[in-house]
Amino acid sequence: MTKPHAATDILIRAIETDDYQDITVLRISGNVPANTLNLPYLSPDTIRDRLENQPATMYGLVAVVDERVVGYLGMLVDSGRQAHVARLGMMVHADYQGRGVGTALLEAAINLAENWLNITRIALEVYTDNEPAIALYKKFGFEIEGTLRDYAYRDGDYVDSYLMARIRKDA
Ligand SMILES: CC(C)(COP(=O)(O)OP(=O)(O)OC[C@H]1O[C@@H](n2cnc3c(N)ncnc32)[C@H](O)[C@@H]1OP(=O)(O)O)[C@@H](O)C(=O)NCCC(=O)NCCS
Repeated sequence: MTKPHAATDILIRAIETDDYQDITVLRISGNVPANTLNLPYLSPDTIRDRLENQPATMYGLVAVVDERVVGYLGMLVDSGRQAHVARLGMMVHADYQGRGVGTALLEAAINLAENWLNITRIALEVYTDNEPAIALYKKFGFEIEGTLRDYAYRDGDYVDSYLMARIRKDA
């Protein structure tokens, strides 16, 4: 496998239904289930069904390296009085972490949200022990707003999450 060295090796594009096999692999790779709400087993058919039935307010971005989808970011835009709010989740295949893929995905999502969809608040939840993810979010101006106790069950125990958000500078 060719190791990517810089963001120029990473293509960010909208997700397609045909990505379901790569997405299935990445969702269960290495530390991804432990740091998300994914379960360690997942059927490709389930992922294909989900991709075929996404709400129009869900924006999915993928990162492609060596013609393989190695990163995914999903951003759900709210409605009504929270039409200015989006919530996101993301994951990078365990073999491709720490090489700038998450940075490229988050940069693209913030650009899409703030400059094209007029979103001024982007929120997310992250387990309190997920230092790489917290560092990534802080790098992009997300701030911790609170702690969600016993947020999820993980490998036999409960885990807390931080609620983090980024407010657009002019908002
Ligand atoms: C968190 C995650 C999305 C980051 O993606 P990534 O491609 O590994 O991140 P990048 O290589 O772009 O690094 C981004 C920043 O994260 C931080 N970071 C990355 N790896 C780190 C590590 N091992 N320890 C501490 N900080 C780290 C750094 O701040 C880095 O920025 P820098 O390179 O400018 O210093 C990815 O590691 C992942 O998918 N992890 C498992 C699933 C997950 O945690 N999803 C998020 C749930 S909220």
